[in-house]
Amino acid sequence: MSSQKRVRVSVSIREVAAHAGVSVATVSNVLNRPDIVARPTRDRVSASIAELGFVRNESARQLRAGRSRTIGLVVLDVANPFFTDLARGVEDEANKAGLAVILCNSDDQERKEKRYLELLEEHRVQGVLITPVVGASSRLARLQRRGTPVVLVDSRSPSRGQCSVAVDDVLGGDLAVSHLLEAGHQHIAFIAGPRTIRQVADRFEGALRALERAGRRHEDLHVIDVGALNVASGQKAGADIAAMTAGRPTAVFCTNDLIALGVLQEMTRHKIRVPEDISIVGYDDIDFAAAAAVPLTSVRQPRQQLGRTAARMLLEESAGGEAHQHQQVIFEPELIVRQSTAATR
Ligand code: RIB
Repeated sequence: MSSQKRVRVSVSIREVAAHAGVSVATVSNVLNRPDIVARPTRDRVSASIAELGFVRNESARQLRAGRSRTIGLVVLDVANPFFTDLARGVEDEANKAGLAVILCNSDDQERKEKRYLELLEEHRVQGVLITPVVGASSRLARLQRRGTPVVLVDSRSPSRGQCSVAVDDVLGGDLAVSHLLEAGHQHIAFIAGPRTIRQVADRFEGALRALERAGRRHEDLHVIDVGALNVASGQKAGADIAAMTAGRPTAVFCTNDLIALGVLQEMTRHKIRVPEDISIVGYDDIDFAAAAAVPLTSVRQPRQQLGRTAARMLLEESAGGEAHQHQQVIFEPELIVRQSTAATR
């Protein structure tokens, strides 16, 4: 006879109560508020739960409570360490509140984002954290009107009627290009992801502001547009730069670290020395930036702090209801200088 205990599919809470010799309310307290149950009783009920193989019915609990014990997180690119670091901060806060996180990847596509928002609403999540694709505001407003709190993360709210947590990306772009101008670079390239992404547009605005302050023209910035904020885009832009026989820039500001790592890889492949022949600045300061073959100068975003702060705001809004006061939090980025940049020769 196998020693494996047969677990019946649906052991009821009543059977657990009868087996432990307590009321159904006491079993419910052991499951939901164990701290108010005396230790001997709690141990006896836990032993009955284990013995009978009881598993709580989350769907039934959710129907009664009206909300699941989850929050949704919708990010632009789950393959980007920026977002996984952000998700780590969200999970830390959610876990403290006994909640799980449903991670959704929109791939910066409106269609995918829309489907995920519908799915999260159907699952009655406690709330949704989202880095929205362009044009999401009406969808998100509808979600809120129907009772699901929404907090923007890594994205500034256009109104005070919405919580948001973001970083001052205009300052970030200014820090990056000012650093290169102060190092004497005259010919700087800006590798821009899709300008429809507000964070990219803000970094570009900051780069132009740094040029203006140095008495330079916007046209002095050599803009290379790429279709996505990933390593492959950086490799393609890097190949274009390597192919320049005349007028090659002496410095490159990349919209994020993944692009910068792709450029760095391509420079190495073409035996173009970093920083001796060309300086490179990234953005986010993901862990791979410091670990790169030539440690990357990057504009640091407080990734996990973004996630923790946004999750806390969402849980406050979910618990606070009408009394909740919306907040728009903006963190300042920080320039981390490493070996990938140097003064021009
Ligand atoms: O959220 C858009 C971009 O901002 C992402 O690429 C991420 O790297 C952050 O920098």
